[in-house]
Amino acid sequence: MSTFTTLALLATTALAQVTIPATNGSLPAAVGNTGCAAGYYPGTSQVIYTVPYTYQQVLSIIGNYTNLTWSGSPDNSVTTNDSKALMTNNWGPGDARFYDIAGAHVIETILTYSKPANGPYVEVHTLAPLTVPAANVSFYSDFDGQVYQPICGGKATTGNYTINFCATNASVASQVLSMLHMTDAVTVGTFLGGKNFTSCAALGAGNATSTGLPNATSSMPAMYTGAAANIKAGVLGTAMVAAIAFALCL
Ligand SMILES: *[C@@H]1O[C@H](CO)[C@@H](O)[C@H](O)[C@H]1NC(C)=O
Ligand SMILES: *[C@@H]1O[C@H](CO)[C@@H](O)[C@H](O)[C@H]1NC(C)=O
Ligand SMILES: *[C@@H]1O[C@H](CO)[C@@H](O)[C@H](O)[C@H]1NC(C)=O
Ligand SMILES: *[C@@H]1O[C@H](CO)[C@@H](O)[C@H](O)[C@H]1NC(C)=O
Ligand SMILES: *[C@@H]1O[C@H](CO)[C@@H](O)[C@H](O)[C@H]1NC(C)=O
Ligand SMILES: *[C@@H]1O[C@H](CO)[C@@H](O)[C@H](O)[C@H]1NC(C)=O
Ligand SMILES: *[C@@H]1O[C@H](CO)[C@@H](O)[C@H](O)[C@H]1NC(C)=O
Ligand SMILES: *[C@@H]1O[C@H](CO)[C@@H](O)[C@H](O)[C@H]1NC(C)=O
Ligand SMILES: *[C@@H]1O[C@H](CO)[C@@H](O)[C@H](O)[C@H]1NC(C)=O
Ligand SMILES: *[C@@H]1O[C@H](CO)[C@@H](O)[C@H](O)[C@H]1NC(C)=O
Repeated sequence: MSTFTTLALLATTALAQVTIPATNGSLPAAVGNTGCAAGYYPGTSQVIYTVPYTYQQVLSIIGNYTNLTWSGSPDNSVTTNDSKALMTNNWGPGDARFYDIAGAHVIETILTYSKPANGPYVEVHTLAPLTVPAANVSFYSDFDGQVYQPICGGKATTGNYTINFCATNASVASQVLSMLHMTDAVTVGTFLGGKNFTSCAALGAGNATSTGLPNATSSMPAMYTGAAANIKAGVLGTAMVAAIAFALCL
């Protein structure tokens, strides 16, 4: 059985394992020089993943802030406090999305949102504090960014999921977030037909390569000041991480 199929099967058992203490979109104040609240430590996770589908195809899956079917939240389970954006699909800073998982509440508030017709798609939001009991970790983020950029002359699209966070255990949080984001990125490709990217040449695009992905920016500090957490394979049991994977869209 493929890793992804295993993830998908395990994911159906995930919902009861997540509780989220966020009550509004605010983030804790920093203390000391880590940029984090007391008992929280800075870390980061980055996932880069290319799908052999066009930017427009990818946007058809991810281009609506309150449609998270690609991240495991059912249709119409995500709400927002911007009813105008919901109608026009035209999102911007301050727009928040809210969704419930096993009675808990996720709040993600946009800092930067841009989706020009030919890319890149750039979205950065904050993540209010939440807890993942199965991993015994709590975290929040002032920079949870996604960039999608066409490559191979438009025949493929590369996603860059980068989150800077404060967590009660930075290495555990980094691994959980990397797994979540990799699962999300793979699911976008699955929704579009399930082909895997190998090379530009295989798509008939010669051997063209990307000229470099743009970086996400926001009015918030782009990075916490602390050192990046190492993503250490095997810190968490694979099954446990997988069980969390479909439960959140972070
Ligand atoms: C949001 O929640 C935090 C933490 O519970 C609280 O300190 C803050 O006053 C709340 N803000 C608003 C606008 O309700
Ligand atoms: C939407 O909710 C977020 C998070 O609670 C808040 O920061 C923002 O001001 C709200 N925007 C509107 C238009 O109510
Ligand atoms: C949400 O997006 C999916 C594609 O990922 C689409 O099939 C579905 O119709 C969309 N739901 C709504 C309510 O727009
Ligand atoms: C965006 O998705 C939401 C929820 O899935 C849906 O209600 C809304 O109609 C969609 N917006 C557009 C413009 O398709
Ligand atoms: C859970 O995490 C906290 C904070 O990192 C730690 O102090 C505690 O020992 C952990 N509990 C278990 C059962 O691992
Ligand atoms: C973070 O979690 C890992 C795995 O459970 C553990 O080995 C490590 O000691 C924890 N670090 C801290 C600072 O609690
Ligand atoms: C794509 O890659 C995944 C993971 O490596 C693999 O399980 C799957 O079979 C591949 N799909 C195709 C169509 O080759
Ligand atoms: C690939 O790149 C190399 C060196 O840049 C070039 O010599 C070659 O012709 C290219 N191949 C194709 C199929 O574009
Ligand atoms: C993105 O940021 C990295 C360092 O954070 C830098 O090396 C790279 O050149 C930047 N890319 C662009 C396109 O600005
Ligand atoms: C991914 O995005 C982050 C945040 O914008 C940036 O620092 C990093 O350089 C990007 N990585 C690549 C490979 O483009």
